[in-house]
Amino acid sequence: MSDGRPRRRSPRHILSDRVELGAPPTESGFSVKLELGLSAADFRELAQLAGIVYYGAPPPEGETVCLAGLIDPGRSMVIRDGDEMVGGAATCPLELTVPGGRQVLAAGLTEVAVLPTHRRRGLLRQMVAAHAQDARAHGEMVSLLMATEGGVYHRFGYGPGTMRADWQLARAGATLRGEPNARGRARLVAADEAETLLPAIFETHRRRQAGELARPPAWWAAYANDPTVVYRGSGLLQHVVYETDADPQGYAAWYFQPVWNGSIPDHVVTVVELIAHSASGADGLLRFLTQIDLSTRLVLLNRPVDDPIRWRLTDPRQLRPRDVRDFLWVRMLDTERALASRCYPIAGTLVVEIADPTGVATGRFRLDASPDGASCSRTTASADLTVAAGDLAACFLGGVGFVNLAHAGQLDEHSDGAVERAERLFRTPTDPWCSTQF
Ligand SMILES: CC(C)(COP(=O)(O)OP(=O)(O)OC[C@H]1O[C@@H](n2cnc3c(N)ncnc32)[C@H](O)[C@@H]1OP(=O)(O)O)[C@@H](O)C(=O)NCCC(=O)NCCS
Repeated sequence: MSDGRPRRRSPRHILSDRVELGAPPTESGFSVKLELGLSAADFRELAQLAGIVYYGAPPPEGETVCLAGLIDPGRSMVIRDGDEMVGGAATCPLELTVPGGRQVLAAGLTEVAVLPTHRRRGLLRQMVAAHAQDARAHGEMVSLLMATEGGVYHRFGYGPGTMRADWQLARAGATLRGEPNARGRARLVAADEAETLLPAIFETHRRRQAGELARPPAWWAAYANDPTVVYRGSGLLQHVVYETDADPQGYAAWYFQPVWNGSIPDHVVTVVELIAHSASGADGLLRFLTQIDLSTRLVLLNRPVDDPIRWRLTDPRQLRPRDVRDFLWVRMLDTERALASRCYPIAGTLVVEIADPTGVATGRFRLDASPDGASCSRTTASADLTVAAGDLAACFLGGVGFVNLAHAGQLDEHSDGAVERAERLFRTPTDPWCSTQF
């Protein structure tokens, strides 16, 4: 029986358990092995290694448990030099919403780490290749990651498909336009009710929002057990649901940080997540969050850059950026299926030549796009433009524009008007947005 969810393929071939790395031994006898398929003990060791590489200390127990719920150990890998684990990377089976609202299978790459003693010898390159081969074998058309550094992954065909903004908003400047919905109300919910309400509200949201990921039960279980492992903050997380006629329109998760200037309260409300199905839901939640006594400031984490919250404010300038950066990086592992999986705002045809230093996406592809769907196949027709695999991947979810890339000198246009045609085809009316870290 089909529930409408995309199905993973049983891989026709899986990488052998142990793959000799191509890197030649060095004078000091450097010889390492990549092992795919981790035991529970291997996984814990990898999590420790990654924690030390990223933060200088092993991760808290809860964080490891949370990650263990997302990743597939059988598809994760470590690299050993003799008995010593010197690097590794984990794979998470994910489901990504693409423009038009379809969900596609994706492979998340995470916990990427190489010990300082073994860097710049091609270990990351080997792991990225092994991850991509395994993902294709499972029928996943894209690979996704969140990059600790922005300069590493373009060479492997990844591009930043979504951006995130962290805002700050002084409460004194947070006057909202219009009147509140008379039928709506904000209701605080305790942890046990949040456990059942939030996943359902999020599920409706993520199915409509290009760039969003499904959150499996293991994600919600880890969140319910200890939300700090997911939002990596401190402070007791509180939840508010906004309802109209008992129909949930959205929720917000926030914590309250007390700051006293002598006896004057200067508290901060940090909003970890604000998910709304409707304009009135977002309005109701924002009204609630901007009216919490003793607070003088709001911090809103991981919002879309084109956040409609700005246009609720009487003074839009008050929504000030603390940080704006890339978030979800995308790599197309199967260009034909990936480009055919999404919908396009207008109908049109485009022939793109893809330059991919890894060779995986190299080739010329004809895209026949329309608002109802698309087809894509290899072609020998002349190309309209040439684009790097990582730049096309950045445009895939509709957030990055071809005109912008052309202004940056990153596209070769071969037929008149091709860049603008590509822009109109790929760009979506709103920015793609991903709120789920893995
Ligand atoms: C980033 C990291 C995984 C790279 O691993 P590595 O085994 O040294 O990488 P490789 O030797 O396979 O390098 C592959 C390519 O990436 C480049 N590269 C590696 N690390 C880079 C970095 N930090 N910034 C820019 N380029 C980098 C290499 O120069 C090489 O380029 P080229 O082959 O195109 O000339 C490793 O340095 C590490 O664990 N760093 C700490 C954790 C971290 O920053 N992770 C970021 C990724 S999430």
